[in-house]
Parts: sequence; structure tokens; C-alpha cells
Amino acid sequence: MLRFLPKYLLALVGCGFLFSVGWLRARHRYLIYQIAVHFGYPASRGTRELPPTAISRVLPGAFAPSLLELDPAEGNVTTLELAVLAESVRRTRPAALFEIGTFDGRTTLNLAANAPATAHIHTLDLPASQLTSTRFDLDRGENQFVEKESSGRRFAGTPWAANITQHLGDSATFDFTPFAQGIDWFFIDGSHAYEYVLSDTARALGTLRASGGVIFWHDYQPDWPGVIRALNELRRTEPRLAGLVHLEGTSLAYCEISPLRP
Ligand SMILES: C[S@@+](CC[C@H](N)C(=O)[O-])C[C@H]1O[C@@H](n2cnc3c(N)ncnc32)[C@H](O)[C@@H]1O
Repeated sequence: MLRFLPKYLLALVGCGFLFSVGWLRARHRYLIYQIAVHFGYPASRGTRELPPTAISRVLPGAFAPSLLELDPAEGNVTTLELAVLAESVRRTRPAALFEIGTFDGRTTLNLAANAPATAHIHTLDLPASQLTSTRFDLDRGENQFVEKESSGRRFAGTPWAANITQHLGDSATFDFTPFAQGIDWFFIDGSHAYEYVLSDTARALGTLRASGGVIFWHDYQPDWPGVIRALNELRRTEPRLAGLVHLEGTSLAYCEISPLRP
């Protein structure tokens, strides 16, 4: 009982802060939402509508990616997802890749390690200094992934760093024009808010080569209803995304983008 007392007192003081001024910040409102769910408030869970598809239909046969930095941190893709992304890159041999949401750079590193030696990987991340000045509101609970000392520490200093360019900024205001029709392979794992998923997807489509390409999205799962809502809608409304599927056993959504008609 006595060992629990410090936690009890800290939580008690924290609650005073939370319910007086703390709720003015999004991450504290998310905590209040979690408490409400704990006491019976219905959690907002989107319903997945994308066709569930076996990984083996998209990537048949044996996997042989090189996987590095396997120890996961909270916020990383799972090891299976990492293998799927790396294997897709290994097979499609893209010359230019773009990732939104660098975080610690674990996925970026693995993309680079499985891409051709001449390929270039661009990765964009929102720095903590821009957390309060984003074009759209971020989703509840994702500030923790923005608030870090640096982006891409897992690829910094590795032999693959030479093939990676780190960009910093808000994906909704970042200038994608230098990449227009120059990217073969795209991974969207930045903000999970509905507006961002729509905006990031539009940017991804604008950067893909006229000959087509591949887009993966992360976190198509009930914890991130903004991702579910946006991708469900996009599959219905954006003709180039009519082939969007959900890869079973993962939270990855995937679409092979057909060549643009001349
Ligand atoms: C969940 S983490 C990405 C994890 C990473 N893809 C991995 O597999 O390890 C989300 C990242 O997106 C970034 N982010 C959030 N909002 C963003 C925005 N508006 N523009 C660019 N990056 C954003 C955050 O800074 C964070 O690093």
C-alpha cells in the first residue's frame, strides 16, 4: 500500500492539472478521452472497408529482405510490416522512394538497405519545433512521436545514409514540386489525422511517375480512425486508388498505381 502512495499522489495532482488547464492541450484531451473510454464511453472505432488481402497475393513466394535494427521502438512498424515493405522494395527495385514520417529512421534504413545501390530515398518528418504550427490538427495521441530530439537517428552514420535525404517540415505545406512524377515507391506514415491522410495521399499521387508505382500506408487500424475513414473514402472516390487493399495480419494498406493514360 505504502509503495503505491507516491503514484497515487502524483496522479491526484496530475488530475487537478488535467481537468483545470491541462485539457487545453490535445495530448491531455486524449488522456481524458482514454479515461472516459475506461469508464464506458464508446471508443470511436472506424470500420475497415478495404478488401482484406493475403500478403502472399501481393508478394508471392519466399521473402529475402535484409532486415536491420530489428529491435522495435513504440511508433515503429511491426517486424512483419518491416519485412513486407523491405521485400516490396527489393522486388520492385525503385530508383526513387519517398517516406512521410521518418521518426527514428528504422523503416527508412531498411528501405535503403533493400533498394538498388543507386536508388535515392527521401524521408520527410515534422520536427518537434513545428508541432504547434501544423496546417491541420494532428490526431489525438501522436504528439509523442513528433516530440523527439531528432529524426532518423537509426540511419545516421550508416553506409546507407549517403542514399537518404532527410527533409524536415509539415507534409501539408512541404513543397513536393521538385519530386513531381519522379518517385516510384511511396510510404505514408506521418500524421494519422483524416485531413493529413487525404493530403499526403494526394501528394503521393502527384509525385509518382507517369509509368505508375506503389503506395503503402501504415496504421489502417481501429486505433487510428482518421486513417480508416480517409482510405475507405479514397478507395470509393479516387479512381487511381480503386485497387487499395488491406494486407492481412498487418496495419498496412497497399495500392499499385497504374500508369497515367497519355
Ligand atoms: C508513427 S511515426 C512514424 C514511424 C516510422 N514510419 C517507423 O516505421 O518507424 C510518425 C512520424 O510522423 C511525423 N509526422 C507527424 N505529422 C507530420 C506531418 N504533418 N508532416 C510530416 N511528418 C509528420 C512525426 O514527427 C513522426 O516522426
